[in-house]
Amino acid sequence: MSPKEEIEQLRRELDQHNYNYYVLNQPTISDFEFDQKMHQLEDLEMFYPQYADPNSPTQRVGSDLNQSFKAVAHKYPMLSLANTYNEQDVRDFYNRVKEGLEGEDFEICAEMKYDGLSISLTYVDGALVQAVTRGDGVKGDDVTNNVRTIRSIPLKLREGSGYPHEFEIRGEILMPWTSFEKLNEERAKREEPLFANPRNAASGTLKSQNSRVVAERGLDAYLYYLLGDEIPSDGFHYENLQQAASWGFKISQGMKKCKTIEDVLAFIDYWDTERKNLPVATDGIVLKVNSLRQQRHLGFTAKSPRWAIAYKFKAERACTRLNEVTYQVGRTGAVTPVANMDPVQLAGTMVKRASLHNADVMEELDLHIGDMVYVEKGGEIIPKVVGVDKTQRQPGLQKVQFIKTCPECGAELVRFEGEAAHYCPNDSACPPQIKGRIEHFISRKAMNIDSLGPETVDDYYKRGLIHDVSDLYTLTIADICGVNKNRVKSAQKVVDGVKSTLQVPFERVVFAIGIRFVGETTAKLLARRFKSMDALRNATMEQLMEVDGVGQVIAESVVKYFQDLKNVEIVEKLAGFGVQMQLSEEHLSEQTDKLAGKNIVISGVFQHHSRDEYKAIIEQNGGKNVSGISKKTSFILAGDNMGPSKLEKAQSLGVSIVSEEEFLAMLK
Ligand code: IVH
Repeated sequence: MSPKEEIEQLRRELDQHNYNYYVLNQPTISDFEFDQKMHQLEDLEMFYPQYADPNSPTQRVGSDLNQSFKAVAHKYPMLSLANTYNEQDVRDFYNRVKEGLEGEDFEICAEMKYDGLSISLTYVDGALVQAVTRGDGVKGDDVTNNVRTIRSIPLKLREGSGYPHEFEIRGEILMPWTSFEKLNEERAKREEPLFANPRNAASGTLKSQNSRVVAERGLDAYLYYLLGDEIPSDGFHYENLQQAASWGFKISQGMKKCKTIEDVLAFIDYWDTERKNLPVATDGIVLKVNSLRQQRHLGFTAKSPRWAIAYKFKAERACTRLNEVTYQVGRTGAVTPVANMDPVQLAGTMVKRASLHNADVMEELDLHIGDMVYVEKGGEIIPKVVGVDKTQRQPGLQKVQFIKTCPECGAELVRFEGEAAHYCPNDSACPPQIKGRIEHFISRKAMNIDSLGPETVDDYYKRGLIHDVSDLYTLTIADICGVNKNRVKSAQKVVDGVKSTLQVPFERVVFAIGIRFVGETTAKLLARRFKSMDALRNATMEQLMEVDGVGQVIAESVVKYFQDLKNVEIVEKLAGFGVQMQLSEEHLSEQTDKLAGKNIVISGVFQHHSRDEYKAIIEQNGGKNVSGISKKTSFILAGDNMGPSKLEKAQSLGVSIVSEEEFLAMLK
């Protein structure tokens, strides 16, 4: 076989395995074999760059190159669908179609309405050439590089499947629930803002400038609309999509042709509960006239087709009056608008406040004080305002404008490029920011002063006793009691609590000082790498980013923190009071580099130390404890009763197994 043929064959094989895994959910080879083939192909492609192909399966990992998106005009505008919310609306739609078709027989294709973001994919000669977001429906962003990393989107269509020379296929890009939960867990650990729902997460991801990030986030795609000059004009939507499935696309779950309105209603009824078992978010059912000829006959209104409609599942929704919009300022200064409404029953609870997220969301809703607004509890926990019933709007109501200044301190708000939120920049004098930082400092995982809580912090702050965390260390019993002598006992506890923080290890101090994005785990990593506050303060971007788990965002945040002289002053005061500013002697003497660069899996039951102790030992010696066995695993620290499947995997990957005794001997 020539190298070219070998490359082509490997690409075909890997495409097939991707399809088996990501579209059919039925892998036929192990991850290991897959990785091996992928490496083989990578090597060949490196050797023979003349055969490079942007649609090769090796290109699905993305690239760190920064990209900006080009605006592209859609060949056919991307319209939206009219929404309906109840059975009567569905019956009305059905009857309109019937009338429009003047008594001709027709079928309705029922399918899921996916709650992600729409995408239009163009294929020429069986290869993906362009992926464009909906944008304003006329023009969208070219996000081809990012879309290439989505494993369930075919880069090359399956051979011999008779696809047209050129066509467009539209669908929805989604983040499955499992990926969404994992992503938010990771973000919580790093103290980054959480995504409210999978749709926002998918949208944020797809617009990422860095396609490697997209590749790691596990996006998925379902396709629901085929277009193009070569699509036979006397064909049928359902049959077209079945064809598309044979070319390698994922199509709607449970798609069904309905002959009567009863069939349609039964479909809706079934999926209203069954959708909860799907791996991705859906928010309704889409009904489409199946015959393309009949679709053309029915045509479009200015905004949407007359041959299709969306039935939205009843997200638990209520309608109530908007009385006021207030604004909350968080520890980081982010300002969140909140709708205050007449109390209303929603999904089992009484709701009177709902999030409005940010200025853009508010503007889009076009809110007026006194409006009747729809509130929903959807995939997210906090209820949100989703719309306004404009038919009930009274004349003369005043439109809500996002505030320009901080409601807490009056500072002029700022908005950073590319961010949706407004911030109060007055971090040194804005009360909720000050109190928030102190609350963080005293929290359990930070300095753990359990004799203090948010109410006491608020009280001390209002009485002018504390402005920043260093003031905690000069509090006296007399200060705390003030005129109230009954407080002596609790005051003593506070003073003792503060004193006890002098024992808190350096790692937790790094967490407690509240560097943005530095969570508990990152703080530990930084403390172990830099060993003292002075070293951390003087660390460069490059040195910071060398730490495993520290990327650009965290590194920048650390540098920025220490550039602010107010922070430096606080840290110096804390040092003066005796707060730990370096790793303890004990910790330092226990630290070695003996396991530097090693990824170690712990498995089984141990005699000499617990699993947690082994984890700490690995970290103290510069190694990393990882959970799954892969070819990157350096060795497995195995106790008794290691599972047979793990053993088998280790053997097949050639990963060595180290006993407890051997491991301890290694560190001697
Ligand atoms: S068909 C002209 N089918 O819902 C018809 N849309 O407001 C084009 N959507 O922007 C759309 N699932 O993003 C269609 N099975 C489905 C869908 C679907 C989700 C989205 C799509 C569109 C919006 C309609």
